[in-house]
Amino acid sequence: MRMRAGQPLRRLAVREEPMKNFVLRGNLCTSRTKDSLSWIPHGYVVCEDGRSAGMFAELQERFRQWPLLDWGDCLILPGLVDLHIHAPQYAFRGTGMDLELLEWLNERAFPEEARYQDLDYAGKAYGIFAENMKFSATARACIFATRHREATELLMDLMEATGLRTMVGKVNMDRNCPENLREGTEESIDETRRWLSDIEGKYDHTEPILTPRFIPACSDAVMRGLGDIRRETGLAVQSHLSENQDEAAWVRELCPWAGCYGEAYDGFGMFGGSCASGSPAGKGGSCAPGGSAGKGSPTVMAHCVWPSGEETKLIKERGVFVAHCPQSNTNLCSGIAPVREYLEEGISVGLGTDVAAGCGESIFRAMADAIQVSKLRWKLAEGAGRPLTLEEAFFLGTKGGGAFFGKAGSLEAGYDFDALVVDDRSLSRPGGLSLRERLERVVYLAEGQSLRAKYVEGREIFVR
Ligand code: GUN
Ligand code: FE
Repeated sequence: MRMRAGQPLRRLAVREEPMKNFVLRGNLCTSRTKDSLSWIPHGYVVCEDGRSAGMFAELQERFRQWPLLDWGDCLILPGLVDLHIHAPQYAFRGTGMDLELLEWLNERAFPEEARYQDLDYAGKAYGIFAENMKFSATARACIFATRHREATELLMDLMEATGLRTMVGKVNMDRNCPENLREGTEESIDETRRWLSDIEGKYDHTEPILTPRFIPACSDAVMRGLGDIRRETGLAVQSHLSENQDEAAWVRELCPWAGCYGEAYDGFGMFGGSCASGSPAGKGGSCAPGGSAGKGSPTVMAHCVWPSGEETKLIKERGVFVAHCPQSNTNLCSGIAPVREYLEEGISVGLGTDVAAGCGESIFRAMADAIQVSKLRWKLAEGAGRPLTLEEAFFLGTKGGGAFFGKAGSLEAGYDFDALVVDDRSLSRPGGLSLRERLERVVYLAEGQSLRAKYVEGREIFVR
């Protein structure tokens, strides 16, 4: 059966009976390794029960009766992965970029987040966020909500309706923030437990993730309580790490027992998949249920701009993922993360937009920013490694970050079927371009209307 690519559709929910087995045809591109791309011009990628059954130059006999969507000369790429974004900050994206982190939190982020106590406001603001994420290039995301349980549940309902695969966290914060946003210590843990109980079994592709905001906003008691919940539930963790030099100095004052910022999480069993032992805070530190580092109960830390050597070692040992957020790090003058060094160490790295310190939800833009800041680092920082290539940046925004979700971020056989159809005809020019050049232009120049379709785990998110 052959079908033409569809008419414009804007639906809130995904189709009721998803097509499980189908084939897309177009110019396929996916990361093979962290520095190589694999291309099949006018090839076929097959979705079987929500997973990729492979990429082919010729369609195998057994798939020939399946529905085929022929996308002509469009590019077909894996759906992109955003490892770090703040949904409640989406409403003020693109404004207030004139401060560094700690002042920006107090003057921009915290006042906006306090508004999510009001469910009416939360519904409106999160509705815009969910709609725009749905029609973006992003297939999967790790999302911060606010401290408010009810608004977090509302956000999860809305994200579930988009069809994307997301992890959403109710934020914990019980110190060093305005009173209208601060939780009581016991309240913070009780509300987290109640949130987890409220949503248990409710969603198909929206998961909870434990979300201590960052060490300055979380007392030892809250961290200990979260460490307990993590051991009981095996949930993943997301937070911020070594983003800004003043922040890192503050953490040294708050946790003098920690040898580095990362240890301030690790001491409570909130840093990757392995054990924390012997730390003075270490009442909470013990093995996560997932067992080996990074498996079963992964942790993602945004930024990691200012790691000590010891911290890089700990990130690697614990299998912690780094969410590199180049646009945020530029806007808040935080610095440039040593991504080349992380890749050489074999550390898992993905990209984050970090809206609203980053001004938009585009992971294509994050790829371009990652390349550009790596060039500045190469020229400006002593001993910095060579800049990132297009291949590496594309890997970070797809398969690199996708690994946080399991087998995701690739069109290869065995991966979850997340695919993006990009029509780059609007980027017109006289004369032809190679497929790699076309991809490069999409990374630097693509905007919303060039996205023609998106699939996540085989679900059709939109076709237009
Ligand atoms: N550190 C703690 N909270 C935040 C936040 O909301 N944004 C960023 N960029 N860093 C943080
Ligand atoms: Fe952030």
